[in-house]
Amino acid sequence: MTVKRSIILGTGSYVPERRLTNSDLAEMVDTSDEWIVQRTGIRARHIAAEGELTSDLAVKAARRALDASGLEPGDIDMIVLATATPDNTFPATAVTVQHKLGISSGFAFDVHAVCSGFVYAVATVDAYLRGGMAKRALVIGAETFSRILDWEDRTTCVLFGDGAGAIVMEASEVADGEPERGVLTSHLRSDGQHKDKLYVDGGPSSTQTVGHLRMQGKEVFRHAVSMITDVVEAAFAETGTTADDLDWFIPHQANRRIIDASAKKLGIDPARIVITLEDHGNTSAASIPLALDAAVRDGRVRRGDLVMLEAMGGGFTWGASLIRW
Ligand code: UT7
Repeated sequence: MTVKRSIILGTGSYVPERRLTNSDLAEMVDTSDEWIVQRTGIRARHIAAEGELTSDLAVKAARRALDASGLEPGDIDMIVLATATPDNTFPATAVTVQHKLGISSGFAFDVHAVCSGFVYAVATVDAYLRGGMAKRALVIGAETFSRILDWEDRTTCVLFGDGAGAIVMEASEVADGEPERGVLTSHLRSDGQHKDKLYVDGGPSSTQTVGHLRMQGKEVFRHAVSMITDVVEAAFAETGTTADDLDWFIPHQANRRIIDASAKKLGIDPARIVITLEDHGNTSAASIPLALDAAVRDGRVRRGDLVMLEAMGGGFTWGASLIRW
């Protein structure tokens, strides 16, 4: 007997050159390095250059993931890009990425679940690969949130940044007796009753504008920990694993306090948490693959490790994926 699994072949990421520190922000709005660090853990974020688009960040991350996998663009037959800041309303930014990579076969589409987008994309691609609809996929989270921030609103503009991360996933047969590998389970949830707590106040059908991000931060915070623990516990329960089995916890990087509180409630060893938000801020759908790539490249995540990804964000949406590396 064999089971079909989606295994991860390689990772890549990219952040724009321009680094905006908390002190830089204190010259723009009434805030301070001390407030931002104490409330969020963020020290800096990266901001896309003029004319640098979400697809440009995505392509750079994707090329690095392909290099790490030892593959060429032509080996890819599916691209799923998680973003809430597409280049244009349509076509999907994934199609632009496909073209910029020189791929003209297979298919590409965007997934829109805001900060949970990367987990949604991993779960989606896993289902397609195990269902036989594709063989090798690029799964990307890429955002230019700097373009939808209200730079006069100190309650939101200090929190977010731009960036992209990517992984290559491949359908693989794992035979009985062989070590298990790949995505073991994913759990996705959403509840639209919370849609006004974190949203963008514009869009093609409502205002015919792009709009700006608006957030009731305290309300998001209030729900985050219970929603995160809900899906992580579901992933543990389904696979018969516990927090003690986990090698790496790679959460969405929104706020250090949310991450620490979630890990504490779940009984996860703080030494097993990967944190990159100090230098990236909240990059929405890009945050998990950025953190994952950092931990793979510095040798923390190794073959055989048990890795939990989790996120919660606008919608609300939330989800977790448990992966045997
Ligand atoms: O990606 C998923 C979605 N996002 C999140 O997960 C974010 C969830 N929320 C949060 O991370 C936190 O709620 C924030 C970091 C946004 C805010 O932290 P908080 O501890 O909930 O602060 P608060 O909103 O209660 O604000 C406390 C005070 C307020 O002043 P008063 O009313 O106490 O006088 C704010 O006006 O801090 C003030 N404040 C600021 N002060 C300096 C708000 N923003 C700033 C700022 N600098 N940037």
